[in-house]
Amino acid sequence: MRKKIVAGNWKMNTTLEQAIMLASEIDSKLAESKKNNDDVTVILFPPFPFIHDVADVINPDKIGVGSQNIANHPEGAFTGEVSAKMIASIQGVDDTIIGHSERRAYYGETSEILAQKIELALENNLDVVFCCGEKLEEREANKHFEVIKSQLSETILKLSAAQMQHIVIAYEPVWAIGTGKTASTEQAQEVHAFIRNLLKENFDAALADSVSILYGGSCKPSNAQALFSQPDIDGGLIGGASLKADDFIKIIEAY
Ligand code: PGA
Repeated sequence: MRKKIVAGNWKMNTTLEQAIMLASEIDSKLAESKKNNDDVTVILFPPFPFIHDVADVINPDKIGVGSQNIANHPEGAFTGEVSAKMIASIQGVDDTIIGHSERRAYYGETSEILAQKIELALENNLDVVFCCGEKLEEREANKHFEVIKSQLSETILKLSAAQMQHIVIAYEPVWAIGTGKTASTEQAQEVHAFIRNLLKENFDAALADSVSILYGGSCKPSNAQALFSQPDIDGGLIGGASLKADDFIKIIEAY
């Protein structure tokens, strides 16, 4: 059975005080929730400098913590970078996002760079939430399947089946991120099924069935349930709505 996951990507938001408050609020609201959310894995991705403090205030049995990115080099003279080893050395921190479209678009992260990051994350025992997704013009030109296939073929589809046990895929159509424009449940399900089929072709049916594929892009309390009820959608990577404890809890409860 694959995991159901709701992850919060805080991006470059919050101060230290706000990050601690938000994490504490999510932690206590989740504990008080009347719904049984035990089968949902919740992961928070705060900004780098607050990861340790966030990991300190949450109940690690209920909430995981990870980084939004890691460097593509193991260590050394790379001023301003943060390595997989550093992230993995923080107690309670077991995950990292890699390949978010904002990293690809604003920081020139190519598939080659992303493949290096994935290797380093796995070597350091971090699980990876690997993002893929097409831009608006690619969707309009009906090239979305092609784009996603190459994003995955150049990276995670090169991994071994054992390494794939540590990968979660997030499908995030770029045109839906932070725009309020969500993919329809049909559009999302169609791409998720396509990705699962790629996994099946490259590995086998059992592996394809075991990998969680999350949807991301303007996911909010009002659309989470419809998205999560699709057969190939195993949760969400939530940006904006993860910065409000109440909305984030409602999304978790939508499962
Ligand atoms: P959004 O961001 O929920 O604010 O659209 C999602 C993401 O970028 O992961």
